[in-house]
Amino acid sequence: MKIDVKNVTMIYSSGKKALSDVSFSLKSPEFVGILGPNGAGKSTLMKLMTAGLKETKGEILLDDKKLLDQEYKLKSRLGYLPQTFGLFDELTVWQFLDYMAALKGIKDKAEIEWAMEQTGLSDRRKIRVGNLSGGQKQRVGIAQAIMGHPELMILDEPTVGLDPEERVRFRNIFSEMSSDRIVFLSTHIVDDVQAVCNRVLVIYGGSILFDGSPAGLIEQTVDHVGSYIRKVDDILPKECEIVSKINTRNGVLTRIVAKELPDYVDRCEPSLEDAYLYCIHNSAKREDEHEG
Ligand SMILES: Nc1ncnc2c1ncn2[C@@H]1O[C@H](COP(=O)(O)OP(=O)(O)OP(=O)(O)O)[C@@H](O)[C@H]1O
Ligand SMILES: [Mg+2]
Repeated sequence: MKIDVKNVTMIYSSGKKALSDVSFSLKSPEFVGILGPNGAGKSTLMKLMTAGLKETKGEILLDDKKLLDQEYKLKSRLGYLPQTFGLFDELTVWQFLDYMAALKGIKDKAEIEWAMEQTGLSDRRKIRVGNLSGGQKQRVGIAQAIMGHPELMILDEPTVGLDPEERVRFRNIFSEMSSDRIVFLSTHIVDDVQAVCNRVLVIYGGSILFDGSPAGLIEQTVDHVGSYIRKVDDILPKECEIVSKINTRNGVLTRIVAKELPDYVDRCEPSLEDAYLYCIHNSAKREDEHEG
């Protein structure tokens, strides 16, 4: 399977431009994470890729044919977890998954059993969805997305609301599944991308800033991360961005990213988190320059 997003621009009826001229391709097998701050355009992109919205400009191709002309074919091969998800509170876990299976044309009930097992819901099958905890509801959402072993999995912040142990368990499940399909997920947790994705997209203000390997993103950040002990009344140079602050006996150990590091900082080995923040910081700076 192959998906080509070609020069896609999305302007909502309100006039809000959520994506501008976005292009990239996904090809099976691949595990791609998309990172970006709130409002960057991640969910909009995923809605377009699942034919839930129509792009204003550009096109999306599924195996070289227009996605919107083959919605039916897409639905049978797609597992999609939207960011906001209306569950049917009155249905039990099993009834809900059975209903979703019917919509997707999944006839093998073993697929429902498998999805419940993977998501740790087997013993909750008779509980009404409305009576589940937030994290359990999220797992029902994941269950309906992985059910049927779809060739394309699009997961919008799948690990939101899960406790740390569950989060790691799920990212391993997605990682295993990605060996013979496309898994495309959005997240705010850089660690998740670092641990399992072989490709990362960084999106900001509706544009893709980076598309490549996590190692490649880190590579472009070498020499742009530093730390120093900051005294109370030190002023942070304007062109730096603080990544973290830790209180120590000697003052605040401050980690920064900057295009040009001030000479009093100690250079640090960049993490993916630093690299992501540096990527966003650099682009935000460019925008400021344009505006100012
Ligand atoms: N239905 C809509 N009508 C108008 N504007 C919208 C609509 N949906 C989203 N937007 C706007 O489009 C932009 C991108 O939103 P989107 O939901 O794609 O971001 P996101 O990256 O998923 O953010 P988050 O991390 O908060 O989920 C935002 O500025 C948002 O306000
Ligand atoms: Mg979103």
